Amino acid sequence: MEKDNKTSDFLHIGNKLLSWYGKNARDLPFRQTKDPYKIWICEIVFQQTRISQGLNHYNNFIKRFPDVKTLAEAEENEVLLYWKGLGYYSRAINIHKASQQIMNDYHGVFPADYEEILKLKGVGKYTAAAISSICFDGKMPAVDGNFYRVLSRIFADDFDISNSRAFSYFSQLAGLVMPENVGDFNQAMMDLGSEICKPKNPLCSECPVNDDCLAFSLDKTSDYPVKTKKVKASDLSLKYYFVHRNGQFLIRQRKDDFIWKKLFEFPTAISAELEPFIKGVKTVTHKLTHKNLTIEISSVEIDSEAVWNRFTSENEYIITDFEASHEKSFPKPLENYIQNSLKD
Ligand code: ADE
Repeated sequence: MEKDNKTSDFLHIGNKLLSWYGKNARDLPFRQTKDPYKIWICEIVFQQTRISQGLNHYNNFIKRFPDVKTLAEAEENEVLLYWKGLGYYSRAINIHKASQQIMNDYHGVFPADYEEILKLKGVGKYTAAAISSICFDGKMPAVDGNFYRVLSRIFADDFDISNSRAFSYFSQLAGLVMPENVGDFNQAMMDLGSEICKPKNPLCSECPVNDDCLAFSLDKTSDYPVKTKKVKASDLSLKYYFVHRNGQFLIRQRKDDFIWKKLFEFPTAISAELEPFIKGVKTVTHKLTHKNLTIEISSVEIDSEAVWNRFTSENEYIITDFEASHEKSFPKPLENYIQNSLKD
């Protein structure tokens, strides 16, 4: 594999992508700026979220937290609230912690160097490469699933993307086609990967590098990328009690747990005294990246003030109601449950 991109035979591919990007770049709000704070937030928001699904969240987030200082000074729960609906809440917690890191370790100035950016909480190689190349003319490829797909197709390369060396392998492969302007090249790859070189039914006739694409010429785009290992999701059962009285219900905040960090949830246990008040049980399923959840939620409608007072005083739950619960972030299935109860 030839690494020196100045002498690479494949450099024309990168230049074609740049020229295509020059004419076809999507008009996105974070494309009007080189402010590393905004680019960082956009990279984290759009890591596992489609542009169309995350754009409102991104705009609202930037409006409320326009710079590192404002974010660092905010309450964590408010940051979580602005993340509501995007999922993967640990990303929001990390963003918040990293903003404090920037205030404390970098005097509030976003670090410009790839290695320094990498030290920020929640920032991996992809994000550090994207920020440093887009904002500071850094030269690292922002290798993600788009890169794997586009490059493995262009070179009809069957390197297994579930292999732990895939990142390093495709980074080198990117080096073969990468032009001087790495920031635009990285964004061109993002746009090509999401608009043209899609996982299913790629729009090869519109692709600026279809002449160079080996998989296309072999009519084998669907064979790439090669991925052998499937991470199998494990099953997990959860039990909740929706303990309520006169429109009020009980919640508590989760800790730094392995799932749903810092989100709010219903009680997971009740005293024997409450059991006769169980009015029905709903079972819902929910998929997380590595977990298939089965969640059983019992509705506990307490029509005795004494029992309600005893249970709430003996336990450290927050008493909330439908109105106030909008100010808190819940896991999706519990959020849905609350919404449905509202309709009943
Ligand atoms: N997805 C994540 N970051 C992006 C960017 N900078 N441009 C387009 N899509 C993206």
